[in-house]
Amino acid sequence: MTARYAVVGHPVAHSKSPLIHQAFATQLGRVLSYETIDAPPGDFAHVVRQFRQTGGAGLNVTVPYKQEAYALAEQVSPRAEQAGAVNTLAWADGPLTGDNTDGIGLLRDLTHNQRLTLAGRRLLVLGAGGAARGILGPLLEAGPAAVRLVNRTAQRARDLAALFRPLGPVAGGGWEDAAGEGAWDLIINATAASLEGQVPPVPARVVTDRTVCYDLAYADGPTVFLQWAQAAGAARVVDGLGMLVEQAAAAFVLWHGVRPDTAAVIEALRR
Ligand code: ATR
Repeated sequence: MTARYAVVGHPVAHSKSPLIHQAFATQLGRVLSYETIDAPPGDFAHVVRQFRQTGGAGLNVTVPYKQEAYALAEQVSPRAEQAGAVNTLAWADGPLTGDNTDGIGLLRDLTHNQRLTLAGRRLLVLGAGGAARGILGPLLEAGPAAVRLVNRTAQRARDLAALFRPLGPVAGGGWEDAAGEGAWDLIINATAASLEGQVPPVPARVVTDRTVCYDLAYADGPTVFLQWAQAAGAARVVDGLGMLVEQAAAAFVLWHGVRPDTAAVIEALRR
């Protein structure tokens, strides 16, 4: 019988995960099915239960259910615990187990694909919601000199920074705290502003010709944040497509025990 996987979200129809997992499977000579499941609000737990009971082998979880998946899991990995969110569910014949591959997916895209060094560097993260929380642990573990977290609701950034303070030099604040302390090596947009076609209102002078700007979001062309960063003179702009493929590869490893070649899949998606 063909092993069945799926991504659950709402909306989820445009997810690239089926394409990515099928590309990995083809590469490795495996046969699997990978579908999208649109779970209406309130239905997430039911959908997971049903997928398990009907022989499904594993699930990815996307917006808006990552926190719900964390609450539903019977056990979670340390990195899912840190993120307070789950993007990968597995069970084999045992308990419903949650993991989170978003943070390591970003790290691998930054350090392996983009060849960036994070140790000793100054990082600015825009946003303090679930997406920001999911990446802070791995970013701090890479040993940056400073991480500044700024958000529309400044208190939310201060609270999140306090939660991660044991892991490294992170401080939270409002947009105005993004400027005035010297140049940033890397600015990561982890807000949901792109979805509304908006750019977080940080002053353009926070971008210098040595700053790499990274958007966790991706689109067919450059996102509005990356357009803004380009106009502000950034050294390089990068969207979240590489992270998407890397988080999928890490989930693939959890389910199948083998690592696919991500570069070929990223290149194919870019075309
Ligand atoms: P996600 O899981 O995508 O992070 P979330 O937890 O709802 O979703 O968080 C959304 C983030 O985007 C928050 O940092 C939010 O700012 P607030 O905490 O002040 O709400 C930010 N955000 C959403 N829309 C925004 C906009 N138009 N401009 C700037 N920030 C925005």
